[in-house]
Amino acid sequence: MTKKDKLSVEPYKGVRDFYPEEQAFLNYFIATCREFVEKVGYVEYDASPLEPSELYKAKGAENEEMVNEQTYTFVDRGGREVTLRPEMTPTVARMVAGKRRELGFPLRWYSLPNCFRYERPQRGRLREFWQLNVDLFGSHSPYADAEIIAMAYGLMKAFGAEDDDFVIKVNSRAYLNKLTEKLSDEARKKLFNLLDRKTKMPSDEFEAGLRELAISPERFMSAEGPAEIEKMIREFSDAGIKNIIYDPSIVRGFAYYTGMVFEVFDTHPDNNRALFGGGRYDNLTAMFDDEPVAGVGFGMGDVTIRDFLAVRNLLPVYAPPTHVYIAIPSSELALQAQTFAGSLRQQGVNVAVDFGEKKLGDQIKTAAKHNIPFVIVLGQDELASGQYTVRDLETGSEKKLDKGQLSEFFLNIERK
Ligand code: HAM
Repeated sequence: MTKKDKLSVEPYKGVRDFYPEEQAFLNYFIATCREFVEKVGYVEYDASPLEPSELYKAKGAENEEMVNEQTYTFVDRGGREVTLRPEMTPTVARMVAGKRRELGFPLRWYSLPNCFRYERPQRGRLREFWQLNVDLFGSHSPYADAEIIAMAYGLMKAFGAEDDDFVIKVNSRAYLNKLTEKLSDEARKKLFNLLDRKTKMPSDEFEAGLRELAISPERFMSAEGPAEIEKMIREFSDAGIKNIIYDPSIVRGFAYYTGMVFEVFDTHPDNNRALFGGGRYDNLTAMFDDEPVAGVGFGMGDVTIRDFLAVRNLLPVYAPPTHVYIAIPSSELALQAQTFAGSLRQQGVNVAVDFGEKKLGDQIKTAAKHNIPFVIVLGQDELASGQYTVRDLETGSEKKLDKGQLSEFFLNIERK
């Protein structure tokens, strides 16, 4: 084969390969989300990424742009139309409707699915992303809305954000509907569309769009918020949380929202964009069942939060799970090195062993290249004396330990 016959090593357009450092970030994202939401009493569910396409076309669930332009849809070998989930909300609504009588409410659920959207790949937007979904079912209380917003706030803090790094903008779909009740369905749709794209266009273009719909930009943007939203914002503020504000232009793209809607924005000038959002959807399960279950929740993507952390140097430093690398002066010691490693592993230490095919110096370079923090050179002397020299690859410092002290040493390092 000539060079040009070879396959590309690039992944499919708009999706990522997760080399160990990227995989480590994804694991960090997942672990941070999981730890936080479980503290608030949320339990995990999951489902297949394959869904019947009708789930996204049914009345109430539809989002024209998404269904017509952004889904990965295909016909399976049995002639069924299948879609790779672009979001989790229709799926979780289906699952809740399916066991409505058995599930106790209020119900607090979370998931960490990968989702697929045929979008133009750009900063913050890919064709496959992971998305924390946090949803609360079976309550109409404004305190359920507040719990969801408080979780969005708390998650940002869990990732290391300060209050002035982000702002949570809140609105109400019900209130927006009331404000615009004199508009025709078509004009309202145009307005929602315009609002949804507001941050992606210059402000004069946005204002011209409003005027086209006979809406005064000044009056629209300075309108008082609905009483229940203003009250919630006051209560957050009294509790010391000042970065939750009312914003009449927050609408969100999905038709299923019925009440409170919100979006978390990055305030950094280099990443001034929406990070994630959600809202209340009280009728979505009605597509499965006559007695709808109220829902409120949000979806938070791994891509946008990574950008947020990157512009602030808040990304965790990569570290492999391996505690120590065993280098050997000759391949004849390979078996003994394995036995030695085996006893450390039994005590909970993660150990990788070289095969002795390269010079010691090169073996140590390999360990450093993989960011493994420590090396033990295991030669005849060490095996005979039972004294092992642990070299710290970052500082170059060395420590002599006997076998009994080794695992304690490595396991304590992990806890620091
Ligand atoms: P969404 O606004 O479409 O809402 O997505 C929520 C978040 O998922 C976005 O703000 C972003 O962080 C991430 N996201 C969405 N699309 C992409 C993409 N193409 N690439 C990277 N990240 C992306 C929903 O999905 C609703 N189902 C959320 C929800 C849950 N509402 C109630 N419960």
